[in-house]
Amino acid sequence: MKTHTLLMPLDMHLHLRDGVMLENVAPLSAYSFSGGLIMPNLVPPVETLEDVKAYKQRVMAAVPNDYFEPYMTLFYKNYDKRFLASVAQDIMAIKLYPAGITTNSDGGVSSFNVEEMRQTLEAMSVLGIPLCVHGETNGFVMDREAEFMSIYEILAKNFPDLKIIMEHITTKAAVEMLDKYENLYATITVHHLLFTLDDVVGGMMMPHNFCKPIAKRPEDLDALLSVALEAHPKVMFGSDSAPHPRSKKESAGCAAGVFSAPIALQLLCEIFEQYDKLDNLQAFVSDNAQSIYKICPEFKEIILEKRPFVVPDDYGNVVPMYAGRVINWAIQSVE
Ligand code: DOR
Ligand code: ZN
Repeated sequence: MKTHTLLMPLDMHLHLRDGVMLENVAPLSAYSFSGGLIMPNLVPPVETLEDVKAYKQRVMAAVPNDYFEPYMTLFYKNYDKRFLASVAQDIMAIKLYPAGITTNSDGGVSSFNVEEMRQTLEAMSVLGIPLCVHGETNGFVMDREAEFMSIYEILAKNFPDLKIIMEHITTKAAVEMLDKYENLYATITVHHLLFTLDDVVGGMMMPHNFCKPIAKRPEDLDALLSVALEAHPKVMFGSDSAPHPRSKKESAGCAAGVFSAPIALQLLCEIFEQYDKLDNLQAFVSDNAQSIYKICPEFKEIILEKRPFVVPDDYGNVVPMYAGRVINWAIQSVE
């Protein structure tokens, strides 16, 4: 049987939520990943040192039997230097959402005036705190990410010592930015390596494939594949796995988010094998993130095997990506 081994896989963009949902989904990520960058868009958002510490405790309590490192983030505000210095040891990054752009982002940034942000972003540069960005404007939905590139350029130029991570990129435009500015990096999801807009609304509307940023055009998918499959050193895997209860997805107003965490590594094996690039998967799912974030996860070995695996119809009240479908790789063992 064909197998593939991955060491210390990392999910550098992960929504675990809170309460009952956290208890449902956290063990699924903890099973196959060594760690994850935990998004702060709770209600209310994670924005104080106490919030960070308490949320980390709740995450750890939800995964009692597996080793999993939650790398914590704060929800971006124009924080002052003193506060940032006090919290720097307890966070891995700060996540910036444009106000109202996606789930639980109402408290995000409504003005990208550099002078208003300067104090915070300079302090983050000095303290070595990366800035993770949901890069979408409020323009036409298919153009939002491409329109945001001018904001990335302004941030990259004005704060050359700030590590800026373009989260869950979906466009050729974003891929092209990677080699243009030394301090720009990116995460890519597994669903954006598989979907175009056709997979969301090309036939019957597929609410479980609906997310922000929405999947784009075939040429965008090709651009994402080109950097992921080569494991471009500035690109990392971040699932953006974003669970919502079935009632919020199969509904007249469908919440944005694809729940992919339990099948992410299996699908990545399938994609990388299809293009004969399995040798690059380790860098994409772990090594690049270790270098970019300067982290050193504890040892964990995942052996995947090539055999048909039926994706469960649901995990509690959450429907995963590809529910009920047969995929070609499965997890054989975790140590
Ligand atoms: O589809 C998404 N869902 N995109 C985001 O940026 C947020 C996420 C969520 O929290 O549900
Ligand atoms: Zn996200």
